[in-house]
Amino acid sequence: MSYGKLRLASRYLLSPLAGFTTLSFRRIVRRTGGVGLATTDLVNSRALLSGNERTLQMIETHPEDRPFAVQIFGSEPEQMADAARMLQARGVDTIDINMGCPVERIAGAGSGAGLMCNISGSVGLVRRVVEAVSVPVTVKMRLGWDAARLTAPLFAREFEQAGVAAVAIHGRTREQGFGGVVSLDGIRQVVEAVQRIPVIGNGDVRTVADAATMLRETGCHGVSVGRAALANPWIFRQLDEWERTGSYAAAGTFDERLELMMLQYDFLEERHGSDRAIVLFRRMAHWYLKGMRVRKQLRGDFQKLKSRAEMDAAIQQIREFGPVDGNRTGVLQDCQIPVPAGPVDKW
Ligand SMILES: Cc1cc2nc3c(=O)[nH]c(=O)nc-3n(C[C@H](O)[C@H](O)[C@H](O)COP(=O)(O)O)c2cc1C
Repeated sequence: MSYGKLRLASRYLLSPLAGFTTLSFRRIVRRTGGVGLATTDLVNSRALLSGNERTLQMIETHPEDRPFAVQIFGSEPEQMADAARMLQARGVDTIDINMGCPVERIAGAGSGAGLMCNISGSVGLVRRVVEAVSVPVTVKMRLGWDAARLTAPLFAREFEQAGVAAVAIHGRTREQGFGGVVSLDGIRQVVEAVQRIPVIGNGDVRTVADAATMLRETGCHGVSVGRAALANPWIFRQLDEWERTGSYAAAGTFDERLELMMLQYDFLEERHGSDRAIVLFRRMAHWYLKGMRVRKQLRGDFQKLKSRAEMDAAIQQIREFGPVDGNRTGVLQDCQIPVPAGPVDKW
């Protein structure tokens, strides 16, 4: 699959998950193999242009993290075009425009999914960004604002005319948030609306079988996987192997998952030094160990560690005790990824 001139090694992509798909996480998924493209969390175009330090950290990458996309959000065409120019000058391979974020702070301000309410304005914005850069520009959107306004096929057709290299479509409306089921029919209508560009199907793909269904039922050209990549970082390797050979090896074991976790720590330490890396790592480690059903006491102890050597000793102990249910799979079993709850207009 290609985004314009950019050839992707696989058609299975890592979907952005704000707070999770950090550089250190992207690197471990790249190491496990099979990822065609990974994208940063959504980045505020205004903050990017003002040189905000935290925002600049969000666009950091590494030679192993290629090809690499940055996802930007905003509602001002000129600002978005300037942000795209800045990213191109920094060597970003492709730029993704967020048109799917349902959170009120973003969608209510006319960015993210809010762009789906303004057809001519959004097409104009996308065109401005495409014209500003020579790298491929893509758009990630939802089916529409609500069931009465399923505008994604219309947008996809207009965006193709405006020169985007691909569209990714999460098969839910803004109103659905993360609830309900993904509409494969809705994704298929987007596929049918375009002529040449690839359409990436997204939403609720947890296994190779789910991806096969997504490809078959929608005719989409590629599949992006978000939450399931946190539960099973080997999913891209499995998908790629399945595509090439028709079968695939099992996901990693409990012990391999621990190794992957420590590799993620190493990447953080390489970038931030050990003191900061330990602080940054705690939250992810707690979450991983919980999903791996490591006993509470050991999880609690892990939060108090102060050095890599202490971590190695703790990992050794966790390895020996194993998970509470004795199931030594590396796939997280209680993978609770926080999504906003309650009525979507209150998010
Ligand atoms: C915690 C979380 C953060 C997300 N952050 C982003 C984001 O920054 N940009 C974006 O386009 N989508 C974001 N999404 C949406 C996902 O990329 C994806 O479209 C959605 O989760 C459905 O795919 P999945 O079922 O494979 O996770 C986020 C989803 C979650 C759960």
